[in-house]
Amino acid sequence: MFPKQTLFFLCLLATSALATVFTSPAQLQGNQYDFIVVGSGTAGNIVAARLAESRNVRVLVIEAGRDNEGYQSELIKIPFLGPQASPKTSFDWNYTTVPQAALNNQAIPYPRGYVLGGSSSINYMVYTRCAVDDYDRFARVAGDDGWSWKKMVPYAIKQEKHVPPNDGHDETGQYDPSIHGTRGPLLTSLPGFSTDIDQRVLATTQELSAEFPFNLDINSGNPLGVGWMHSTVGNALRSSSATAYLQPALATRHNIDLLMNTQVTKLFQTGRSGGLPVFRGVEFGTGPGAPLFRLTASKEVILSAGAIGTPQILMLSGIGDPAELRSVGVTPVVSLPEVGKNLQDHPLVPIQWNANSTQTMDPILRDPAVFSAAMDEYNVNKTGRLANNGVSNHMSFFRLPRNSPILRRYGDPTAGPRSPHYELAFGNGFFTTSQPLPSSGSYVSIINVVVAPTSRGAITLASNSPWDHPLIDPKLLNSAYDLAVMVESVKAAKRFAAAHAWDGYITGPYADAVGTTTDAGIVDYIRKWGTTIKHPFCTAAVSKEPGKGVVDGKLLVKKLRGVRVVDASVFPFIPAGHPQAPVLIIAERAADVIKAAWNLH
Ligand SMILES: Cc1cc2nc3c(=O)[nH]c(=O)nc-3n(C[C@H](O)[C@H](O)[C@H](O)COP(=O)(O)OP(=O)(O)OC[C@H]3O[C@@H](n4cnc5c(N)ncnc54)[C@H](O)[C@@H]3O)c2cc1C
Ligand SMILES: *[C@@H]1O[C@H](CO)[C@@H](O)[C@H](O)[C@H]1NC(C)=O
Ligand SMILES: *[C@@H]1O[C@H](CO)[C@@H](O)[C@H](O)[C@H]1NC(C)=O
Ligand SMILES: *[C@@H]1O[C@H](CO)[C@@H](O)[C@H](O)[C@H]1NC(C)=O
Repeated sequence: MFPKQTLFFLCLLATSALATVFTSPAQLQGNQYDFIVVGSGTAGNIVAARLAESRNVRVLVIEAGRDNEGYQSELIKIPFLGPQASPKTSFDWNYTTVPQAALNNQAIPYPRGYVLGGSSSINYMVYTRCAVDDYDRFARVAGDDGWSWKKMVPYAIKQEKHVPPNDGHDETGQYDPSIHGTRGPLLTSLPGFSTDIDQRVLATTQELSAEFPFNLDINSGNPLGVGWMHSTVGNALRSSSATAYLQPALATRHNIDLLMNTQVTKLFQTGRSGGLPVFRGVEFGTGPGAPLFRLTASKEVILSAGAIGTPQILMLSGIGDPAELRSVGVTPVVSLPEVGKNLQDHPLVPIQWNANSTQTMDPILRDPAVFSAAMDEYNVNKTGRLANNGVSNHMSFFRLPRNSPILRRYGDPTAGPRSPHYELAFGNGFFTTSQPLPSSGSYVSIINVVVAPTSRGAITLASNSPWDHPLIDPKLLNSAYDLAVMVESVKAAKRFAAAHAWDGYITGPYADAVGTTTDAGIVDYIRKWGTTIKHPFCTAAVSKEPGKGVVDGKLLVKKLRGVRVVDASVFPFIPAGHPQAPVLIIAERAADVIKAAWNLH
């Protein structure tokens, strides 16, 4: 017997030609599309689904990675398991950075979603819109006021559906409902599993209110202070751009198709127009040695392959720094030296203390019996830790003091006075992405992040083969400024944990973590356990200046026609927070920019 809903869909299938999902490029014979979106990622699915709202166009999405259903898909669905979805799983591209000089030359795993939804399917689901100033600076650099906070908030609200927390508690006083959407496709929610540090974190905001004030809603455009964390989670499941946008579009529209398990190997020139090369051609295949296929978009190619994939595809197409391209055997076609440059990422350092508690998440991480009981609760009741984001229940963002010697010495790289220098996030257990998990004990963690770094790295081709990973060098903590701010963040975290609110709960620093009292000791610790929070950005940056950047204010690639970029690559500066929300929000407006350019309704 089919449930009612399935019957409804089966009837629809019988009466109209709905979307087709191709799993191999050979199946795609002869189809014509107006728009080809490269990458079914965070941004790509939003652009594709919104464009398909216009009945007059046909849209194809091409995704290198796998389906978000099937093998181990509980890892990308059950919120608590999100951090286990990478690195080195079937959802991951399995990138690794080149050795990072400031981190004792460690090469760091660099996960990226290799799955429908891209990194929105494997990320840690933290939803922070970031600061007014981050958007306003984007708008200034782009020369388009449409990207300013004021103009972007309506897109954030249109996109969002804030749903009640999983445990049904009263969320009054934990967020500002007036600035959140209630009817959009993307589900967000507050934590629905209270932990034994929640009240202590809040008590610290009162006890040390000058340095660590409470902020009712860190998504208001002013993220400074300590607030309740929002996650892209609803109904005990991850909400990704695949679940929120792609799948509903495929299930209801006839003019959008998906080709997955297929990697775009390059764009090719399809002609010239107004003295510029036109690049509406897309070449793709399934692996080295397998046949390559070609398709031409009648209107535009939209590159949404992310901050690594997008510059890689551009460079493989001969678009980049000519000398660099020649050195790996790629014939240069368009000189855009900033492709792949300006890579920005957020360095992260976790620190922990011993906790006098039996209620932390530590047992669930190490004891199969405890995990299996939690899994039973999830399966039966859709409640408990597993139904919720386990990363944190509170986040916080801070600026250095106005008279900080660091700012005097290096200048202030933030976007403005509401944009933070560093972040502290509070973990109810041993939260880490670099250290080995201890085999016993209970812990409380603070994650330190430098959110407005000055280090700049690059993505470069390792060879002219699309099947070779590019060289990824985020230059984590490479600037004296970034290192100095990280030291200040660790010291601030120690002040936070020294509040009386933690008396009887924090019983001492964990191992070598924060036992050290000297700056030099903290620096040693940072170099040993520092890593990335996995936020590569800015590798095809926007600029209104003709000779600068990679895309213009409408996100069109410069010095050629037919190609737009919509993903984390286009930001001129990395947003000072967890940046999936800014990507989700700019993709929402980018779809309108494209509709306007082609007069679509
Ligand atoms: C492990 C992890 C945790 C994170 N946690 C958070 C968090 O909690 N909160 C937050 O705000 N941010 C988080 N981030 C960052 C955030 O998820 C990303 O910044 C954002 O999702 C990037 O979106 P995008 O559209 O630019 O790229 P992606 O979402 O990565 O999409 C790119 C897509 O293009 C596909 N693709 C690439 N190359 C090709 C090709 N040649 N052919 C075809 N397809 C291709 C990819 O497979 C992918 O599906 C995290 C990231 C990771 C990896
Ligand atoms: C990444 O590594 C995992 C584990 O080895 C593997 O299953 C997966 O296929 C790899 N991903 C890619 C894109 O090759
Ligand atoms: C599910 O919830 C009910 C009611 O609260 C409870 O009695 C039961 O033990 C729960 N089941 C599991 C497996 O946790
Ligand atoms: C641990 O907490 C209990 C109360 O929950 C308290 O009685 C005890 O003194 C605490 N232990 C330490 C070492 O602080």
